[in-house]
Amino acid sequence: MSALLSVANLRVEIATRRATLVAIDDVSFDISAGEVLGVVGESGAGKSITGTAILGLLDHPARIAAGRIMLDGQHINALPAAEMRKLRGKYIGAVFQDPLTCLNPLMSVGRQIVQTLTTHLDLTASEARSRALRLLSEVGIPAARERLDSYPHELSGGMRQRVVLALAFACAPKLIIADEPTTALDVSIQAQIIELLKRMCRERGTAVLLITHDMGVIADTADRVAVMYAGRIVELGSVASVLRHPRHPYTRGLVASIPSLRRRHVKLLQIAGSMPHLDARPSGCAFHPRCPVRLPRCAIDRPEIHQVGNASIACWLPPDASSTDTTSDKGVATDA
Ligand SMILES: Nc1ncnc2c1ncn2[C@@H]1O[C@H](COP(=O)(O)OP(=O)(O)OP(=O)(O)O)[C@@H](O)[C@H]1O
Ligand SMILES: [Mg+2]
Repeated sequence: MSALLSVANLRVEIATRRATLVAIDDVSFDISAGEVLGVVGESGAGKSITGTAILGLLDHPARIAAGRIMLDGQHINALPAAEMRKLRGKYIGAVFQDPLTCLNPLMSVGRQIVQTLTTHLDLTASEARSRALRLLSEVGIPAARERLDSYPHELSGGMRQRVVLALAFACAPKLIIADEPTTALDVSIQAQIIELLKRMCRERGTAVLLITHDMGVIADTADRVAVMYAGRIVELGSVASVLRHPRHPYTRGLVASIPSLRRRHVKLLQIAGSMPHLDARPSGCAFHPRCPVRLPRCAIDRPEIHQVGNASIACWLPPDASSTDTTSDKGVATDA
């Protein structure tokens, strides 16, 4: 089956006065129709830039310098801005961390949904209004009819994010790009929003690129996961396989930090050190300074991503040495 979204050898550069920085380097992945692909990694890994590049929303000085983004067989990384805007409303929906970036503060939520619907679909105003009402009830807004006339600031954070989901799904897109959709919300509400996103996608067969720094969210939401480090994918595979047998030492560190997957008496582990800045990426494998099992060549040669068993990894460790059980603490550097 051909992929719904296919990203091949994506490279994003950011031109600064002193140098051209490479934010995303040779990133490739596919998403099938209806599939949830999680993208995980610490802050600065390049997750948002990847999502923004697909949406065609990269801002100067960032730009796609190489690679290809295909949606449903159509090349979309060189479309004129107006075409891209059409595509964003109709075929790709976006959900960002802060609901207010997706909502217009000066327009009632009902009008925003109606406007999206009438811009992209051939609907009359009254058809659009009843569809907006259905969408609001579907995302769990109580007294939806009255809420049509509410402004974003009159709603709680959780309700706003529900409205954003209603907007994102309004035109029945094939793909949703959700960038940390719950990070800004109260912890008690996060699970509800993730559950809602999952349900809506499942019911409609919508594919999702779900960006998060939370392996726990990946564990109960995604089908496959791409682990990013310093602008590259270091591991890609099914969630079941990556969580049970993380192969890349960085993935092992992330997996070890999921509380629910760990024995209760074991302290939460963290990976020592931090993500390098764009202008100070280490040579060879960018993770090598933090890697507890590095080899001499890791500082010199960059490992390319390749298939190992049923996952792909970018690591020089021999396959047997780089597979471990998540219940083992070995091979993870700790801050503690
Ligand atoms: N306009 C810009 N100019 C310079 N550097 C930038 C710019 N935009 C992003 N970056 C850098 O690119 C890198 C990747 O950024 P990105 O926002 O994709 O990270 P992320 O994985 O989404 O992190 P987070 O979890 O914090 O959201 C970071 O080091 C960031 O500082
Ligand atoms: Mg981000």
